[in-house]
Order: sequence, then structure tokens, then C-alpha cells
Amino acid sequence: MSKTRKKKIVVVDDEQLIGTALHEALLHWQFDAKVYHDGVQAMSDLKNEPCDIVLTDVRMPNLTGMDILEKVKESAPETGVIMMTAYGTVDSAVEAMKKGAYDYITKPFSLDEIKICIDRYFKSKDLEEENQTLKQALQDKYSLESFVGQNAKILEMFKSLEIAFESDASVFISSENGTGKELIASAIHYNSPRKAKPFLKINCASIPENLFESQLFGHEKGAFTGATRTLKGVFEEADDGTLLLDEITEMPTHLQAKFLRVLQEGEFTRVGSNQTIKTDVRIIATSNGDVNKAIEEGRFRQDLFFRLNVISVAIPPLRERKDDIPLLCKHFVEKYSEKYSKSIVGIDKDALKQIQSYDWPGNVRELENLIQRSVLSCKDSTEIGLEHIQNHFPEATLLSDRESKSLLSHDISIEEMEKKLIETTLKRHNNHKTRTAEILGVTLKTLRNKIVQYGFEKKNN
Ligand SMILES: Nc1ncnc2c1ncn2[C@@H]1O[C@H](COP(=O)(O)OP(=O)(O)OP(=O)(O)O)[C@@H](O)[C@H]1O
Ligand SMILES: [Mg+2]
Repeated sequence: MSKTRKKKIVVVDDEQLIGTALHEALLHWQFDAKVYHDGVQAMSDLKNEPCDIVLTDVRMPNLTGMDILEKVKESAPETGVIMMTAYGTVDSAVEAMKKGAYDYITKPFSLDEIKICIDRYFKSKDLEEENQTLKQALQDKYSLESFVGQNAKILEMFKSLEIAFESDASVFISSENGTGKELIASAIHYNSPRKAKPFLKINCASIPENLFESQLFGHEKGAFTGATRTLKGVFEEADDGTLLLDEITEMPTHLQAKFLRVLQEGEFTRVGSNQTIKTDVRIIATSNGDVNKAIEEGRFRQDLFFRLNVISVAIPPLRERKDDIPLLCKHFVEKYSEKYSKSIVGIDKDALKQIQSYDWPGNVRELENLIQRSVLSCKDSTEIGLEHIQNHFPEATLLSDRESKSLLSHDISIEEMEKKLIETTLKRHNNHKTRTAEILGVTLKTLRNKIVQYGFEKKNN
């Protein structure tokens, strides 16, 4: 609702005097006010003319305050209802609050009390709206659009996400570090029916083993040394929402059975308590290693994996979708240009070529960091060039690029070209001869001979 519009308050009270006094006070406080002495007429007018607050007496002939509350909550749930009650009817006012009334005021009341109550209502309404806006902003941030990529494998993954958005089943995301697991997990939560509920994350690799159980399930005061007060665990905090468990295979083995039981039965106990607590939490688990290996080695329960892997999402590493690199670069250049209030035009051809020839072991995070630093060091209104990114790449990779540029910039013999090619490939692969031979498509013996021929090493070395 617009903040400039006068707020409208409707008073329903069969006592003429109270109605008149309130009417005057409300007008004086700059509200748009209307008073009814009969609930039936009030309700019929409210159908056509909604208002912000209904201030209603509890005990009235014809329609009671309770009837009014029910009707208003049904036809205009956005409207706040405040009950005015005589001393003897406080019980029904409390009952009314359970049914959705905002508050109640006991008669006789001062006008100040009414004003405070009304102000409090509008303040909480503003906060609610602000929260809604913030939540919407979060949802936009974590919409799938913020995951940049058009590679065929990514489009395939988007399809499996559609199922994850609609279903309530557990999701298992497996992929290397920095590929966007958290981004995808957030998109799943904020596109699911649980979006308005909590989204909590914990990283199983970073919790000390002795605190793990209490972090998950909470503990009672005095459950162990240092437990000075009762604490809720993430399972309780994330009730009705989603819990992201990063690096799930790092969960201590003795806790995996309890965790599985919680998933199956939807209840758990805090450490140091026998009381079961019901929970309804959707789980998204991630792993950046080899889950099968962890299962084979007995570090991770297979039955738990089956329970978690109902919907499985695999994000391909960046080196397997290099066609997405230009898009990602553009995205990050824009993101950091905005953040640092700069207008970086883009990335020049040579720099982009260098970026595309690299393997990106740290995946999108590594690329994002590089672009962030480049935007910072790049002069305003210019392009990111090789000079901004050079330091990022291992010597060998960079050499290959410089070499290839200089090789092509003047005439050279095939022999010279071959020499440079072998030298560069060897450097790039830390002098690993078998791999270099494989890459160059020659036998190991041929490579060895060439190495001696070009004087990189002496024979039998
Ligand atoms: N496809 C993408 N589009 C845009 N940004 C991305 C993409 N993938 C990853 N990012 C960005 O890269 C960074 C790392 O992503 P994220 O934290 O989601 O990865 P992760 O797989 O959870 O990493 P880790 O394994 O280290 O926990 C974040 O800043 C994220 O916004
Ligand atoms: Mg992560």
C-alpha cells in the first residue's frame, strides 16, 4: 500500500460515545476514519471499501466482534483487526488473537493507548512489507538466471532442476570446488514451495567432530562440559525450510546412522535429552569428491547416500564447458564494474584466448576472482588485456601463449617450430615425458630422441 495515502480505520462499537470520541481522535491523528454502531452495516460497506484497520468492540448485538473478525480475515486478510473489550470479556479477546486479531485493548482505555496500538500495527506492517521486499530480492538473486551458462550439459542440468524445484525430495549435488553448488542449492530453495522458510547451510568438513551432533540436533543445558545453555541445532532452526549440508561425506561415521534415522522418521532428540522433536526439513547435500570411493572405503554409508541422492545434480567442471567462458567473463566484468563503480568495456581478444586456453582447476570461483582483480587493476573505460591477467597463470601456460604469438609473428622453420612446441609442452606438464609424448602424438622414444637432438637434455640423462 502506498505510504502517502491516508490510512483508513473503521471503528465498530454499539456505544455511541466511544464511537464519537474515537472518530474525532482518529481524524485528529490524520487518519481517514469511519464509525459504525452496527456490525452488519460495517461489513456490508467494508466489502466495497476496504480499510487498513478495523477497531471493533467484542460484545455487540447482531454481529459480535468475533463474527466481524472472522469475516474480515476471510474477505480481507490484509486488514488488521484490533479488539476493544470490556474487563469481563478479555478471554474472548485472547481467543480472538488466536484467530488472527492483531491485538486487544481493555476498556476503559485512554486515547494514548489506542494510538500506541495503531502505530505499533503499522510499524509491524511496514516491517513485514520490508521483509517481503528483501525476500523477493533474495529470490531474484538466487533465481536460475543468476547461474550463467548455455553449454549443452548445463541446459541438461537445468532440466533436472525443474524437477527439484517442484519436488520436496532430497537433492545430491556433486561437482568440483567452485562450480556453483551453493548457487544451485540456493536456486532450488528459493524456487521451491519452501522459499519463504529458512535456508540454512553448514559445511560438514569444518565442524569439529565433538561438536557435530550438537550443531545438527542441538543440546540441552549441561549436556556436556561447556554446554552452558540450551541450544537449537540446524535441524530445528531449519524447520519447514531447507538445509544445505556441504561436503556430506565428511560427516563422522557414527553420526550418519542417526542422521539417516532423522531423515526417515522426521524426528530427533537434542543431545542430553530424551524428548523427541518433530522436524520437516528438506536436505540438499553436496560433495566435491568421489562419493563412491568414500562408500567403498567405508567412510560414508551407502544407504544414506541412496536416501540423499533422490534427485542428483552434477555440475560439469569449467574445463568441460569452455564455450561458457565468454559469457561468464562478461557477467563478472559487469558485476565487478558495477561493484567498483567502473566502466570496464570488456576483455580483449588475446586475454580471452589466454583465459580460454587454461584448465581452471578452481572452476568458476577462480575465474570470478581473476576478473574481479582485473577489473580493479584495469583503467576506467578500457578493456582488460593480457597485462591484467598475466600473473594469474602458471609460467608454462603463459609461455605457450607468448611463444605461439612470437612464433607466428615471423617466419620460422618447421624444425624451430617443433623445438618450441616440445619445449613448451614439456614445461607445461612439469617435464612429464610420457604425458608430453601422448599429447604431441609421438612415442616416448621419439620424444627422448628429440629432447637430445634439441639439446634440452644430454643423452641417458
Ligand atoms: N554458472 C555460474 N554463473 C555465475 N556465477 C557462478 C556460476 N558458478 C559459480 N559462480 C560463482 O562462483 C563462486 C563460487 O560458487 P559456489 O560457492 O556456488 O561454488 P561451490 O561449488 O559451492 O564451491 P565449493 O565447492 O568451494 O563450496 C560464487 O561467487 C558464485 O556466485
Ligand atoms: Mg559451496
